[in-house]
Amino acid sequence: MNAPTPFKQHLIDPEICIRCYTCEMTCPIGAIEHNDDNVVVDADKCNFCMDCIPVCPTGSIDEWRVVPDRDQAYSLEDQYEWLELPEQAPIEAAPGAEEGDIDDAVAALLAEAHKGAGGKARPPVSAVKPQVNMYNLGKPAEMTVQGNYPLTDDAGHDVHHIILDPGALPFPVLEGQSVGIIAPGTDAEGKAHLPRLYSVSSPRDGERPGYHNISLTVKREEGGIASNYLCDLEKGATVRVTGPFGATFLMPNDPEARLLMICTGTGSAPMRAFTMQRQRAGGGRTGGMTMFFGARTPGSLPYFGPLKKVPDSLLRQHLVFSRLEGQPKEYVQDRILAERAEVADVLSDDKTHIYICGLKGMEDGVDSALTEVANDMGQDWITLRDRMREEGRYHVETY
Ligand code: A2P
Repeated sequence: MNAPTPFKQHLIDPEICIRCYTCEMTCPIGAIEHNDDNVVVDADKCNFCMDCIPVCPTGSIDEWRVVPDRDQAYSLEDQYEWLELPEQAPIEAAPGAEEGDIDDAVAALLAEAHKGAGGKARPPVSAVKPQVNMYNLGKPAEMTVQGNYPLTDDAGHDVHHIILDPGALPFPVLEGQSVGIIAPGTDAEGKAHLPRLYSVSSPRDGERPGYHNISLTVKREEGGIASNYLCDLEKGATVRVTGPFGATFLMPNDPEARLLMICTGTGSAPMRAFTMQRQRAGGGRTGGMTMFFGARTPGSLPYFGPLKKVPDSLLRQHLVFSRLEGQPKEYVQDRILAERAEVADVLSDDKTHIYICGLKGMEDGVDSALTEVANDMGQDWITLRDRMREEGRYHVETY
């Protein structure tokens, strides 16, 4: 009989996963599947190609455990049952093997992990513990459309603010969490549509205070099943909703925490929720919030009007436009550099939390800009970023 060989198994953290199924759709060999509850990786199929790692908006896909032997990998059934990921179990040395050798082998296997999403996402230390996965594919919450309002006046860029009422159903959400929307009907293969994920743009006590209704910020995508369904919804219609999802992209409850929010387009949804929550939490002093928000034009920037009414003392706003007539294209990363002294001041504060939400393409640009800002401070951005992530102060959700 062969001696057992420790095996690194690819897994998904069910607590952090927002059930967007992007990994499943991306996996070239069908190694990822789901049931009503969880999305899971088949150890017999996964070939570690890593294609699924960069597409995951939360980093929940970047999880690994070493098991004593390939035969002892967690099964699909095991993974479907999980509410949270099991801790790494100690691996016992095989008879005759040195204990230290096994520790080194496990450490080496695990060290290879976390290359993709850049490390384990953690919630802010002071964040409220969120509820997750209360409603799933098999048992979605039915919500009533209370309102559906266009937010932009740009024909080619239709963004809607949609308010959903769970009625008597408990549906507790925290700012930064997402919900799934199940469009009616079936796909070309006759299968029910998978839910499409949207960040909640309302604060915890509801779009209307005390009503626990939720709002979504939805951009109509050409050919998009869920976005067209949502943007066309009439008041009074019923919508099937899964979730809530997400346990790390949350705001600190500590009012003194400082927030640096960097977003594009509908990536502003959680930032709206954070801002409203701070506004509602009462006029007391807060650590302050600074936002870099990129859009094509003022007319295509969601919530442009309401944002103008938010006082500078609560939210420092840098609205950045890429398609202003007669003006050079400007992206959020350009403005971060233009305002490097202000950003350095924010970065140097141990109470600062960074939130990045929107187009995946902006991540590299923002990283480069923050590298330069950190250089000005005599610091290495990657070291600082990794420390902030470790401390639950660096949060990214891009798609
Ligand atoms: P553009 O498309 O003009 O190049 P929306 O989703 O509403 O279109 O907004 C996205 C905004 O983000 C646009 O202004 C878009 O500019 C901009 N954008 C596109 N690519 C990047 C990138 N790599 N980094 C930062 N911003 C980007």
